[in-house]
Amino acid sequence: MGGNVEIFPDTRGLARASAESIVTLSSEAIAAWGRFSIGLSGGSTPRTLFQLLASDDFASRIDWGNMYIFWGDERCVPPDHADSNYHMTRETLLDHVPLPEDNIYRMQGERDPAEAAAAYEETLRAFFGSDALPRFDLLLQGMGDDGHTASLFPGTAALRERERWVVANYVEKLDSWRITLTVPMINAAANVIFLVAGENKAEALRAVLQGPRQPELYPSQFVQPENGRLRWLVDAAAAQLLRDS
Ligand code: 6PG
Repeated sequence: MGGNVEIFPDTRGLARASAESIVTLSSEAIAAWGRFSIGLSGGSTPRTLFQLLASDDFASRIDWGNMYIFWGDERCVPPDHADSNYHMTRETLLDHVPLPEDNIYRMQGERDPAEAAAAYEETLRAFFGSDALPRFDLLLQGMGDDGHTASLFPGTAALRERERWVVANYVEKLDSWRITLTVPMINAAANVIFLVAGENKAEALRAVLQGPRQPELYPSQFVQPENGRLRWLVDAAAAQLLRDS
């Protein structure tokens, strides 16, 4: 069910392993086809990773000029809003590395959600080509304590979308709209890495990785790359309920 699960003692170890993976995958992609496309997750877990990538330990090991930044989802707020995933990424990473502005493809959370989703799908078509599903070199995924990933929340309409690449998704429990990549889009990626940390994720992580398959309830279970590598990088606190952990 969950690809291979790698457990780290704390969030620092988790962030360092994730950063090393990004260095490796970006070097391989750029050597192979001249560019590295990455979709970032939002929320709080990736903050430590993004700060580490911008640090002296890592910044010089990445070819930022050939890295292209996308997002897996976005809140429907302006780009300077405290809840914006883009805003968080700017603060922790983008404002601190020599990545060209033209390499950054922001989901426009300030727009009408349906229009922003359609516009982002056009952005993906322009970048990847419009015939086949885009194949990100890497998608970073977070997981909520309810088992959601990106903005694919339990019981929401977006879970059933199999044609569109990007949709607007109303999340009743948050009483808010989100923009999110869809299941087929995520599963087309060459590499998917889940980053999960914290005791509050332990029950959902157990359910997703070792419980019965019920993806409508635990949407992270939908993530099964068609022809890609799935890895779960988790900290000990999140892994504490896993068998054989
Ligand atoms: C978002 C995310 C979402 C996130 C999980 C985990 O926009 O919130 O993309 O899928 O990854 O909710 O969030 P935390 O890292 O804050 O626990």
